[in-house]
Amino acid sequence: MLDRNAGGGYYFLKEMIFAGSTAAAGLPPVAVPAFKGGGAVFPRYLVNFQYSNLPVFGTDYLVIGSGIAGLYTALKAVEYGRVTLLTKRKVEDSNTEQAQGGIAAAIDRGDSPSLHMEDTLKAGAGLNDLKAVEVLVSEGPARVEELIRMGTAFDRCEGEIAFGREGAHSRCRILHACGDATGEEIRRTLWRHCQEHGEITVFEGTQVIDVLVNSAGECYGVLAWQAKLGLHIYHAKVTVLATGGNGQLYKNSTNPEVTTGDGIAAAFRAGAEVMDLEFVQFHPTALTKEGAPPFLISEAVRGEGAQLFNSKGERFMPRYHELAELAPRNVVSLAIWQEMANTGAPAVFLKVAGEHDADFAQRFPTIHRKCLYYGIKAPAEMIPVAPAAHYLMGGIRSDLWGRTNIPRLFACGEAACNGVHGANRLASNSLLEGLVFGARIVEAGRQWLDQSPGTTPAETTASGAAFASLPSGELPAKAEGVAQAIQQVMWERVGLWRSARGLITALADLERIALPEAWPGEVNRVFETANMLLLACLTARAALLRVESRGAHYRVDAPQSRNLWCRHIVQSQ
Ligand code: SIN
Repeated sequence: MLDRNAGGGYYFLKEMIFAGSTAAAGLPPVAVPAFKGGGAVFPRYLVNFQYSNLPVFGTDYLVIGSGIAGLYTALKAVEYGRVTLLTKRKVEDSNTEQAQGGIAAAIDRGDSPSLHMEDTLKAGAGLNDLKAVEVLVSEGPARVEELIRMGTAFDRCEGEIAFGREGAHSRCRILHACGDATGEEIRRTLWRHCQEHGEITVFEGTQVIDVLVNSAGECYGVLAWQAKLGLHIYHAKVTVLATGGNGQLYKNSTNPEVTTGDGIAAAFRAGAEVMDLEFVQFHPTALTKEGAPPFLISEAVRGEGAQLFNSKGERFMPRYHELAELAPRNVVSLAIWQEMANTGAPAVFLKVAGEHDADFAQRFPTIHRKCLYYGIKAPAEMIPVAPAAHYLMGGIRSDLWGRTNIPRLFACGEAACNGVHGANRLASNSLLEGLVFGARIVEAGRQWLDQSPGTTPAETTASGAAFASLPSGELPAKAEGVAQAIQQVMWERVGLWRSARGLITALADLERIALPEAWPGEVNRVFETANMLLLACLTARAALLRVESRGAHYRVDAPQSRNLWCRHIVQSQ
């Protein structure tokens, strides 16, 4: 289990409703306004329920989420016990499915884990956990080779893996598949193996509402909801949250609709520590055209030589960084933002390298198709792009074995924060993380398999929840309105540029959005929106506390990194 008292390098923010200052931790004082609406936003449970009235199912490993972290963990876990995997929509509804660029691993001749480590640390801006990075880069190649043995069809050139390049990598070390559909190919492979196995039980359309903790302080499963079954309970010896990130907190995001941070929010409500939530990575190049949702234009396109121009036709990246278009993501995103502000244009333009339509269509078929669909004939025409929320470096605080501070509760992939990415993730390290730490979680989880956890809830009653009963009715518009209001606040004030003033306003705005007690609407959406509101508050207050700029967190009122802030912000109830 995580050592809660691990000292230096952390700033613990424990109060549920926090109005204190950082001075006690040896930091210059920063006041965070009290959150008066906290009761509604930070309840123990989302919905009142009576344990004894609900159907109960049992398993050994309960894995939640069907991205790379969930599927791979399930495949490893089934070697040791019964596995149940829950996913809230379809198996393919995940960020993994949309991953384009690929998966980074030091496999090629001339590359090495230590070079991969160096690049990862440079991107992470001083906040990486060194041991976690060492684990990632040294165990990563074997995991990727396992994916290859399982049949993942990575692209090849004359029989050899065709390694691509992405920003801030010193080597070509990105494996990709079907050009720009790497995540889809990996998901297909893992899912095929899960199905062949036959002993992994998968329930789609099942949303995890809350994490359950017994009177001994151990996790014993989850409260879940499914349309036909309604509320129900899963008991498990080991519970793994592989629920992904929270890109949907932002108006513009490259993430699919499912990324509402449910696992992180549920873990927090159950008493888990969350860390580094202020570090949100904004991808520099999402397609930006009226009528089109922001769509990822992979960094690999710049890796193949594409250049960025502002609306006046000037190539601007060499003015900002010696690596120009291949500078770290935060640098490119901020440069684009600056150029958009200077010119007043809603986008900058990506000029794809090479003139031949066939080459571009072959290397980037998904992007090519998407651009054509929205009337952009790349490579002949430039692609209008702007930054969009892409990846959460923070998440549920976990150790090198995915353990959280709650025994039997593990976190994996984007939902987790073991410090591997520091303040800014290196491109294509996220799929790798899901594999490496998924395997470790299964090993660590074995210690719990001999004995089931007690199931006496820590609380005698589940009252005091955000919702007195399950939302019902025909009015999902209410939830949509609230979700949009959150996304707008986050985009405008907790986005790429932040300031104390903007963050204080954001917290006040979020407080006004507090959830009503009874809320008609579609159950999934209502619970997702409640989770978004909680995470929005936690993100804004961490961003307000961090009075410096580091990695993906940029404060206009404190543009430099400060040594005294070379520490993590950990929040818990
Ligand atoms: C991309 O293809 O640009 C995204 C890859 C990543 O976020 O790692």
